[in-house]
Amino acid sequence: MQTIRIFETYETLSEGTALFISEVAKSSVAERGKFTIALSGGGTPNRLFEILASDKYKNEAFWKETIVFWGDERYVAQDSKENNSYVAENLMLQFLPIPAQNIYKVNTSLPPAEAAADYNDKLRSVFGKETPAFDVNLLGVGENGHTASLFPHTDILNETEATVKAVYVEEIKKNRISFTAPLINASKEILFLISGDEKAPILEKIIEGKFQPQQLPAQLIKGLNNNLFFYLDKAAAACLKNLSV
Ligand code: 6PG
Repeated sequence: MQTIRIFETYETLSEGTALFISEVAKSSVAERGKFTIALSGGGTPNRLFEILASDKYKNEAFWKETIVFWGDERYVAQDSKENNSYVAENLMLQFLPIPAQNIYKVNTSLPPAEAAADYNDKLRSVFGKETPAFDVNLLGVGENGHTASLFPHTDILNETEATVKAVYVEEIKKNRISFTAPLINASKEILFLISGDEKAPILEKIIEGKFQPQQLPAQLIKGLNNNLFFYLDKAAAACLKNLSV
């Protein structure tokens, strides 16, 4: 079961997502004394990051109990503008009172498989022996239907373990480090943040089309029980036909 929320613009979409995250953060800290979030990469979350670092949210008490991971990372230097943690650091994290030791970046100075194993160890250091269940797992979608670094027709799609894997993506000729689908699906709340008319056709296929996860890996993300959200702007939702009003 999924919830689709459509916002007028990229700005209101980003504001609505910031509100969602802050509400989950407050309840997570109140219930369990911490808030764990896995951030997505790419460009869509950039405005969200700026809003979370703005006066409206930057002084919230929950940041001190917040733990940050990334659902995937490009296999580039941590100071590369292509690096997801570099972007989040510059737009948001440097302005927030999150303890430095609570921000877990992928160590891309290690070989890909070791970087993935090291990141999985970091997950275990936070979540212990249980399957890591992030309070919020933020995701984007590519125009080819990928999410995180779960690209079409790659081996990582067949992973049944909730873990972190390195994957060489032939389509973009790049190594990536990514959560597997089972790890994402273990999250308490999963939120796809999607904007722009260029995403409308693929989104219609993902949400309303045939189930074909090798072709559309975002379809692997099911969530557990009513905890799957699609936060879209009107442009990204333009091709959706079966919206219950
Ligand atoms: C990444 C992301 C990836 C991203 C989509 C959408 O590392 O690139 O995690 O899954 O969310 O490619 O990217 P845009 O937001 O730039 O369209």
